[in-house]
Amino acid sequence: MLLDRIRGCAYFQPMTVRPILTAPDPRLQAVSMDVETVDAEIRTLVDDMAESMYEADGIGLAAIQIGVAKRVLIIDLDQKEGKKNPRAFINPKIIWVSEDMAVFEEGCLSVPEIWDDVERPARIKCEYLDRDGKKQILEADGMLATCLQHEMDHLNGVLFIDHLSRLKRSMAIKKLIKAKKLKAVG
Ligand code: NI
Repeated sequence: MLLDRIRGCAYFQPMTVRPILTAPDPRLQAVSMDVETVDAEIRTLVDDMAESMYEADGIGLAAIQIGVAKRVLIIDLDQKEGKKNPRAFINPKIIWVSEDMAVFEEGCLSVPEIWDDVERPARIKCEYLDRDGKKQILEADGMLATCLQHEMDHLNGVLFIDHLSRLKRSMAIKKLIKAKKLKAVG
């Protein structure tokens, strides 16, 4: 299986930029599995995800976007020239959400050239393991709260366009299919 092959390669390799899957792709609908141990393989995965995210000019990435169905995501919202500070969230779980909502325009490396407003809880509290396997609890608001929810959706096979109206979603999917066909020809 392709997923296993990609995962197998993760062992003992230097940081690698891995290709990012784009919708529609059935792999992006997979529900990712919990990480059992935060070991060298997971840290390599985290490093590769960071490389792949920076290469694609993204601010967040879930492992499934590079074809690995594990509950791992990375976020870096403070990218300034040459300064990188990727944060890893392993087995993240939302343990509280605020009643007040916030709207942000979202985009996604797996949904190229499409941006739209999505409403989500404005603040959340989440529990996760960091890159060292230590349990952390974080209360987030603003962009970070939205970004965490967007990335956690990926772990459940959900894309931001799944939050749009049926009409907007089907228009987005048509656009994505067309872009894929053009890419295949060109
Ligand atoms: Ni995304």
